[in-house]
Amino acid sequence: MKTRTARVLASLSVLAVVATLAAQAAAQLENNARAARPEVTLPMGPARNVILKSCTSCHGIDEYGYYALDRDGWEEIIERMKTTRSGLVQGALISDPDKEILLDWLVTRFGPDTAPFPREYVPRILSEADFLVDETAEARLAGTCEGCHTLDQVLSNRANEEQWRATLLDMVGRGAALPLSDVEPLVEWLSRTRGLNPSN
Ligand code: HEC
Ligand code: HEC
Repeated sequence: MKTRTARVLASLSVLAVVATLAAQAAAQLENNARAARPEVTLPMGPARNVILKSCTSCHGIDEYGYYALDRDGWEEIIERMKTTRSGLVQGALISDPDKEILLDWLVTRFGPDTAPFPREYVPRILSEADFLVDETAEARLAGTCEGCHTLDQVLSNRANEEQWRATLLDMVGRGAALPLSDVEPLVEWLSRTRGLNPSN
């Protein structure tokens, strides 16, 4: 009788431990492993007005980040948008000169030489060994990011975790020699030391 009660109690506490671990794992997954998405900012030049006039009535521009196409490839998409209907909006309205302006920007930003944002990119979960101290992180950034702009330009930015991830993957797409395995540790360090929280 006594042993039976003890056994039931023991298995209940095992269950409780398992449930707690599962909840912790789920919480960690939610924090660390949500699928990343590209984040595309509106350009400042003439393409800005074209996009606002012709391209944003049905959907945003983040999806462009999934593509790396030549001029013909982009033109094909734009042509398709002219006849694509969404809700009450009947196709994209865009003049030929505007289309050329947009194509100039699209092939510069998302041309065949860029690497598209990986659709399947899922941030890996970091272990304690992955957390970078300032010196290591700065050295790694200096080594890979200074080819095209100064490190100051990078470190003067503030952004949240998702925005840093999108920026780093964007830079990898532009040719930054950063192994994908280095992305998450740097995202963690950047959002910790250059985050949007005013206290850090
Ligand atoms: C009338 C609404 C509408 C407008 C305006 C519009 N789009 Fe789209 N777009 C859609 C819909 C709906 C989809 C998803 C279905 C599809 O791909 O045909 C889409 C998909 C896309 C995609 C994903 C491509 C793909 O193969 O699915 C890109 C890139 C895109 N649009 C770019 C643009 C650009 C650039 C413009 C401006 C010239 C634009 N869109 C204007 C409705 C629109
Ligand atoms: C192959 C050239 C190249 C390399 C290498 C490079 N960048 Fe960039 N970076 C750019 C260009 C070009 C822009 C301007 C983008 C724009 O205005 O759309 C930019 C802009 C930025 C910005 C400004 C914010 C933004 O999204 O426009 C940040 C932050 C940044 N880079 C971070 C980095 C980091 C971190 C690295 C190293 C991992 C890096 N870059 C390596 C080319 C590069």
